[in-house]
This record gives sequence, structure tokens and C-alpha cells, in this order.
Amino acid sequence: METLEYHELVQRYYGSRLEIHGNLKTSASCMSPSTPIPQSTFDALRLVHPSVCKKYSGCGLVVPEKLQGCKVLDLGSGSGRDCFILSKLVGQSGHVIGIDMTAELILASRKYVQYHQQKYGYEKPNTIFVQGYIEKLNETGIQSGSLDVLVSNCAMCLCPDKKPVLREAFRVLKEGGELYLSDIYSSKAVPEHLKQDPVLWGEGLSGALYWRDLISLVHEVGFSTPYLLTASHIMVHNSELQKKASGITHTSATYRLFKLPKNRKQSDAVVAYKGTVPDHPDLLKFDMYHCFETDIEVTVDAEMAAVLQHSRFSSDFSIQSSDKPAPSPKCAPQVNPLVYFLWAIQKPSCICIFLYVLHYMKRKKEILVSNSYHCN
Ligand SMILES: C[S@@+](CC[C@H](N)C(=O)[O-])C[C@H]1O[C@@H](n2cnc3c(N)ncnc32)[C@H](O)[C@@H]1O
Repeated sequence: METLEYHELVQRYYGSRLEIHGNLKTSASCMSPSTPIPQSTFDALRLVHPSVCKKYSGCGLVVPEKLQGCKVLDLGSGSGRDCFILSKLVGQSGHVIGIDMTAELILASRKYVQYHQQKYGYEKPNTIFVQGYIEKLNETGIQSGSLDVLVSNCAMCLCPDKKPVLREAFRVLKEGGELYLSDIYSSKAVPEHLKQDPVLWGEGLSGALYWRDLISLVHEVGFSTPYLLTASHIMVHNSELQKKASGITHTSATYRLFKLPKNRKQSDAVVAYKGTVPDHPDLLKFDMYHCFETDIEVTVDAEMAAVLQHSRFSSDFSIQSSDKPAPSPKCAPQVNPLVYFLWAIQKPSCICIFLYVLHYMKRKKEILVSNSYHCN
């Protein structure tokens, strides 16, 4: 199939359904987040119109912290559920754009813009929905370096070529901006013949990126290393699909990645979280590997130091660059964060126990995973 045929297939798959949520054939859109939902996100979610929620078909929760006043773009916005949550969290001074290629979903989401504006008590709407391709954001008039945060919930797995999507995402982000991505990943490269199956493609299973390829692709485009937040095994309910995809497992994972300045300082830093991010007074769980407790100093590697220094979180941390040069690439962290991902792909039932034990031990200050690299 050519790109256009994949696009048309997806438009039919998602455009013609009144209630997408109950019609999908995997557990992807029923994923519950593995960390508690912050109160403000929970409150915003409860205000979203039920008809919008019925058409939700994402595979994660794409609501990063500290969004007040931000300009946010949702790639593949579907019925707009995430956009309306974000609309509440960015506030009247922020702005949310939802982009989707499926006309029916753009029309359906536009119907509820005024409803949410009134519900949130805004003088004017802060959300717009634009029909377009996420590979071609330039055609929708979005300027380079104009956005603080990009989110995407289960759309990239439906794109035959992921690189233009990531390249465009990188272009439109401001320096220090964040791409917060929930998507489906496969345990191995999907063979070509499975990519021709319309249902496997429509469900996002045969277009899922092999998880290792995400890391190389985002680096090629210029992003930071992807920081993994959650990973959950996807169950395929339909036995015929199960048989077709046999030998490949799928995981829904949420990553955050950043557009960092090219000429940044390359040294470790000692950082302390100030407890100032709304909803997170005691602890900021930045990813599975970096959990910052308020007023506790920890050493982070050069890339994380740059993320904290150049992103919207810079005012929430005290950051002292260390004179120590950045660790050599050969020096691996004590526990690679991708371990979590591998567990989700290979041993879905064990990951919960593993995370529970890890969390419990960290809480008891028996730091199993150090935030620093130990090279010496
Ligand atoms: C699985 S649905 C998820 C929708 C939404 N993010 C949610 O969470 O409900 C994927 C959406 O991405 C859109 N999409 C897929 N490929 C796209 C592309 N190349 N350009 C624009 N939208 C696309 C589809 O039209 C569909 O609405």
C-alpha cells in the first residue's frame, strides 16, 4: 500500500464510527495509567463532554505537568478528548491546536469547542481543530519554533513513515519544548505482509514502531533521548488478529522527549527539585528513572541537566553544573530505564510486581536506582 492508501484506510477506520472506544479490538484504549492521575488532570477529564469521551481511541494519558499558559499541539487529535483536557490546564492565556486528517472527527470535535469554553468560564475559546496531515504541519500554517508542548496519543502507529512526523514535530517546537508521546510499540520489526492487513493496520498493531527504532529515529531528527514514563502490555481480544500477529507482542508506552539547544553544556549537574510544579509538592516523577524528591540533591547526567535547564521546568530546579565531564557513552546507568519496557513487552504480568517493589524500596530510601551515573 502507498502512503495515501494507508491514510484513506485509517480515515475510514476511525471516521465512520459513532463510538470508537467500544469497537476497537485490543486493550490499547482501555489502558489505565500506571501512576496516579494528578488531581487537576482528573478534574479536567471529568468536565469533558461524554460524547467526546465515547470517541476516545488513544492508548495513554498525554497530559504532562506545568501547562499553564502553554501553546500545545495534539498530533492526531481524534474526537478531541485530550485537547479539551489540555484546554482546561493551559488556562485562558494558553492555546491548544488539535490536528487530524479525518474530516468526521474534526467536525465532531469542533462541535464541542464552545461547550468547553463555557464550562471552563473562558471569555473566548482557546482551542481550535484543524484538518491536516501530521507529516505536513507546514501545510496547516504552523510556524517553526512556535509551540511549547506537543502531545500525541496513538497516532504515529497509524502513519506509514514516522520520520516526517518526528521531523515536523521537532521543527514546530520551541527550543526547550517537549514532545509527550503515547503510542504502540512492537517487540520486533513487523513483517511487510502484516502491514497489508487493514484491521491490523487500523488497530495500530502492524504500523507500530519496533521500540528500538524509536530511539535511533528521534536522535536522527535531533531530539533528546526519549524518557520512558509508562509501559503496559496490550492485549489483543480478537483471536483471528492474535493468530495473524503471533510472535509479536505490543506495548503501549508513553515517552517524553525534548528539543535541546545544539551548543549546550555537556556536564553532569547536581539538581534539587523545589516542589513548585502544581500538583507535585513532594515528588516529581519525571520518568521511570528520575523521581525528584523536594529539596533532595541528586546528580543527573549531562542530558538530563540540559533538559531541566532549558525546558519549562528550569525555574523548578536549582541546578549546579558539576566540573566533572559528562560520563563516557560506554558508562551505562546502574539500571537502564529500558528494562521497564522490556519487562512490559516480555513479561507483562511481572512488571506490576517489579514496579511495586521498586517504588516501595525507593520510598524507604533504600535507593535501588541511583539518579547518577557511577563511572569511577
Ligand atoms: C487511534 S486514533 C487516536 C485519536 C486521539 N488521539 C484519541 O486519543 O482519541 C488516531 C487518530 O490519528 C489520526 N491520524 C492518523 N494518521 C494521521 C496522519 N497522518 N495525519 C493526521 N491525523 C492522523 C486518525 O485520523 C485518528 O483520529
